[in-house]
Amino acid sequence: MNAEPSFPKLRLRRLRYNAGVRNLTRHTRLHPGSLILPLFVRSGENIRQEIGSMPGQYQLSIDQLIEEARQARDLGLGGIILFGIPDEKDHQGSDALHAGGIVQQAVAAVKNAVPNLLVLTDLCMCEYTDHGHCGILHEQSGITDVFNDPTLEYLGRQAVTHAEQGADIIAPSGMMDGMVQAIRSALDSAGHEHIPIMSYAAKYASSYYGPFRDAAESAPSFGDRRTYQMDPTAQAEQALREVKLDVQEGADMLMIKPALAYLDIITRVAENYRGIPLAAYNVSGEYSMVKAAAANGWIDEEKVVDETMTAIHRAGADIILTYWAKDVARRVCS
Ligand code: PBG
Ligand code: ZN
Repeated sequence: MNAEPSFPKLRLRRLRYNAGVRNLTRHTRLHPGSLILPLFVRSGENIRQEIGSMPGQYQLSIDQLIEEARQARDLGLGGIILFGIPDEKDHQGSDALHAGGIVQQAVAAVKNAVPNLLVLTDLCMCEYTDHGHCGILHEQSGITDVFNDPTLEYLGRQAVTHAEQGADIIAPSGMMDGMVQAIRSALDSAGHEHIPIMSYAAKYASSYYGPFRDAAESAPSFGDRRTYQMDPTAQAEQALREVKLDVQEGADMLMIKPALAYLDIITRVAENYRGIPLAAYNVSGEYSMVKAAAANGWIDEEKVVDETMTAIHRAGADIILTYWAKDVARRVCS
């Protein structure tokens, strides 16, 4: 590179002077197989209830979920990730722990109807607890907070119920220390040693999750998640330590979340952990902002989405979880 000539011998515009040259020299290409579609499932029949803050996204009953799963398969998506909305939430998040729970039923139904589609399950307590926090609570010196270690046992049990119904990959999102290790050993003890864990390894306490909490009805009833999710103002190296801990505990794949405000983190993790598949979650708020601007005619949704996906890949993510997975797949395949 240091031998590069300079202008006028060097003309960088030659590499983009027509569409053919631009196509040939393209580096980042979008592919449906790298995309994962998040889906929200609830009980009932024939329910397809649009989420107010996420136009084009729905709470689905299982029959409708299967329709989405078929489309995901036909479009060649990498997979779907399921979020459950239980009928009953309680202090202990009990619905998450048995085969009759909403996500467990959904996994079984999808794997039965669309066996070749990869199904991930989000693993956390917040969708199932009446307090909306990602773990078991306890009070100490007048402060109520999530109790780390008792939560681990719960997560391990939850993971086993997902794997028993056929979940292909378990994706823990609660940011508990030790969660990957606890889930790994619970899965292994139950004979699921082949099931990979995609850990939400560096997940920030982000305001970009707002619309998701409408979708999953999982906003915390008091306080916030800042004692377990990461502080956006902390050193970037903290994310590397979070990732390292999860890798040591046995994470097979890593996830960074959100995507756009954390592209620097994606790049640093990609550079430091070559060989471990890296995913990024293009979260609900990132989706809703574009939807709102596009509805106003302020931006071109399709172009902005493709540019966004390109940016996340170029930053270093191999896999993208995005509510636009079907739209992008349709475009790149047409
Ligand atoms: C559950 C979970 C959340 C998201 C994924 N898993 C919400 C949260 O942590 O509050 C957010 C996804 C999105 O915003 O699209 N822990
Ligand atoms: Zn949670």
